[in-house]
Amino acid sequence: MPLRTLLSEEQIRTRIAELGSQIARDYEDGDLVLIGILKGACYFLADLSRAIRREVFIDFMGISSYGRGKTSSGEVKVTKDLDVSVEGAHVLVVEDIIDSGITLNYLVSLLEQRKPKSLRVAALLDKPERRVRPVDVAYVGFRIPDEFVVGYGLDYAERYRNLRDVCILDPD
Ligand code: PRP
Repeated sequence: MPLRTLLSEEQIRTRIAELGSQIARDYEDGDLVLIGILKGACYFLADLSRAIRREVFIDFMGISSYGRGKTSSGEVKVTKDLDVSVEGAHVLVVEDIIDSGITLNYLVSLLEQRKPKSLRVAALLDKPERRVRPVDVAYVGFRIPDEFVVGYGLDYAERYRNLRDVCILDPD
């Protein structure tokens, strides 16, 4: 299927460096735990964590959503939970993309119950047009139009995750 570059490797690298500096400035002290949401966020987490020039801890969560898209039932299930406690720590949830907002809306409520010192979200990509549930996103890499995108962690049927650019996948 034809691919068109939406965001180049270079654009992504530059923006992540900016986000990393901003995050390092915003969190002067305290433990900072970055939580990557599997699987799409793995590349963003790897690059963002190295762009934040302060000590960080990393962990992962697995989430599966049902009814996203057409029906948006909002049902979300945790398939892999954290290994570490986040009580009293600054938590930054790291996502590759926010679409309907269902995943993050659920996840933020879940993590709030664990009494972190603060809780924010960083997303490389945001498709605000698609929002069904509200999500407060502190750090956004790029706001993008409602196109099907792959690469830099994002997949189509598990393919294309390792592309270095974020590309638009044209169905024809
Ligand atoms: C994607 C993305 C988010 C979620 C966003 O994950 O990584 O977790 O969808 O969509 P939403 O805002 O509509 O909830 P996906 O379920 O495709 O899993 P993956 O990261 O393993 O590809």
